[in-house]
Amino acid sequence: MNDTLLWYTTRGAGAVTLLLLTASVALGVLTTRRWSPSGWPRFLVAGLHRNLALLTLVFLGLHILTAVVDPFTHLGWTAAVIPFASSYRPVWLGLGTIAAELLLAVVVTSLLRGVFGYAAWRAIHWLAYLSWPVALVHGLGTGTDSGSTWLRVIDAVCAAAVLTAFGARLLLGSRDPLGSARTSFRTAAERQLGR
Ligand code: HEM
Repeated sequence: MNDTLLWYTTRGAGAVTLLLLTASVALGVLTTRRWSPSGWPRFLVAGLHRNLALLTLVFLGLHILTAVVDPFTHLGWTAAVIPFASSYRPVWLGLGTIAAELLLAVVVTSLLRGVFGYAAWRAIHWLAYLSWPVALVHGLGTGTDSGSTWLRVIDAVCAAAVLTAFGARLLLGSRDPLGSARTSFRTAAERQLGR
């Protein structure tokens, strides 16, 4: 892959990652209200939320890989793993690393929910809320395109989507945060115990 293609891929994959993360977080917030578009069964919304999170990781992987191997930035793998270890834009890239690690923790503990137990899974799942603003600030701070109209529109759409989801949840009142997940977790646990 030549340098220009790497650079475009890093930027494009970063923007797609932010959009997917936003969609997953907004749907996650809404599913705590057991919300679903009319005619949609709730399990479909929960499945979409989960698959969007997995797809976010795929594009995040591409974003990180192309950023690390790009000879212009000389990031190296240390910067991708240890926050603020980069010599290139250390603060903004450090925030990206933190957002990525929070997201990874959320997805891994969700996939292994039975191993971690409900309380630990739930506590870690709240980190998803932290991952989103940290990722947004990373993109705004380090992106070549953060001043250009197309990325400004994407940033504004993402902020509006998450704020609307939170607003809807606050307005409607939270019946039971992460309640649907607890129900399915309990059901699985009870099945294992043969109850
Ligand atoms: C959830 C985590 C992350 C998200 C959502 C994200 C998203 C973004 C976005 C939207 C941009 C702006 C792109 C542009 O201006 O065209 C960006 C830039 C960038 N990101 Fe990330 N990022 C994340 C994590 C990371 C990590 C862990 C690294 C590597 C250590 C990284 C490396 C970079 C670099 C080098 C740029 C600057 C690209 C350039 O404009 O030259 N990002 N990121």
